[in-house]
Amino acid sequence: MKEKIIQYIEKVDNLSAKTSSEIENIRIEYLGKKGLMNELFEQFKEIPPQEKKEIGLLLNNLKKSVETKIEFLKNSIENSYSKEEDKEDLTKPYNEKVLGSSHPLSIVRNQIIEIFSSIGYVVEEAGEIEDDWHVFSALNFAEEHPARDMQDTFFIEKREDNNHTVLRTHTSSVQVRTMEKQAPPIRMIAPGRVFRNEAISARAHCIFHQIEGLYIDKGVSFADLKQNLLYFAKEFFGENTQIRLRPSYFPFTEPSAEMDVSCNLCGGKGCNICKGTGWLEIMGCGMVDPNVLEASKIDSSIYSGFAFGMGIERIAMLKYGVRDLRLYFENDIRFLEQFSSSF
Ligand code: PHE
Repeated sequence: MKEKIIQYIEKVDNLSAKTSSEIENIRIEYLGKKGLMNELFEQFKEIPPQEKKEIGLLLNNLKKSVETKIEFLKNSIENSYSKEEDKEDLTKPYNEKVLGSSHPLSIVRNQIIEIFSSIGYVVEEAGEIEDDWHVFSALNFAEEHPARDMQDTFFIEKREDNNHTVLRTHTSSVQVRTMEKQAPPIRMIAPGRVFRNEAISARAHCIFHQIEGLYIDKGVSFADLKQNLLYFAKEFFGENTQIRLRPSYFPFTEPSAEMDVSCNLCGGKGCNICKGTGWLEIMGCGMVDPNVLEASKIDSSIYSGFAFGMGIERIAMLKYGVRDLRLYFENDIRFLEQFSSSF
């Protein structure tokens, strides 16, 4: 039944209609008394109780998709440009054009900024063209450290003194820029574009977006990190969201962790989006390594802090169920017009 509903969701997505009577037929087919939705809800009664939650969610999603689609089709018919009408009355006011909508990556970025701003983080920015120092060395990547290979770098200019000019591979460079120009306390987030020499596929791209976070003050502990990130997860994914931190490694944080949130699609039970685990990995984080503080001339015997970094594409994928990263960059209007926001 699950597969069937998912197929219908995709089918609804592709529905089109040119006239109001075509739209009405769609409505009857799906939402009418003897329509598909009622038929599915009948079948829903028969399924085993342990599947009810997941299938129930999917069913509601399907119903919402149908309603949204019908609404969308109605609007597009109303707004469509008709030459006949123009001929009839040339004094008629200009046919109002449908306004563009925000890009899903902008919507998600702005929501994340809004959440962190509400607990005192300020937005910082720095260049996309950087030097080795700000992307690697000041972040405790040793010269020949294998961690440099974790991030395939685009080099712009190789330099004798090894401070090569590069496209930043992560927004962690903004941490360094901020620590260099500002004394603690620091509480910043840095949204921005990053670049890695990766083959383009449904799951990877050579250009993508991250949001970095950095919090430095006297006495900042791992408990603060956990609480800040839990607050974010609940605000963004919903009040019932839980987080889990798994040990990991980054040269610039010690200890380091990957943060997972409980899967909001299946409520933690396990589905194909979370690959049956009930958890979704969303960011890297950890306590700022004292070497990183010292490299930016912050006294690590007085100050401590935490940092985190997340990929906006990934979070938007989870939020909107986008399965192919390339869609974000192709500017296909059929994809883009599905998103709207007050941001
Ligand atoms: N910069 C890391 C990455 O790109 C993410 C990260 C940021 C991890 C800050 C820990 C702390 O994968």
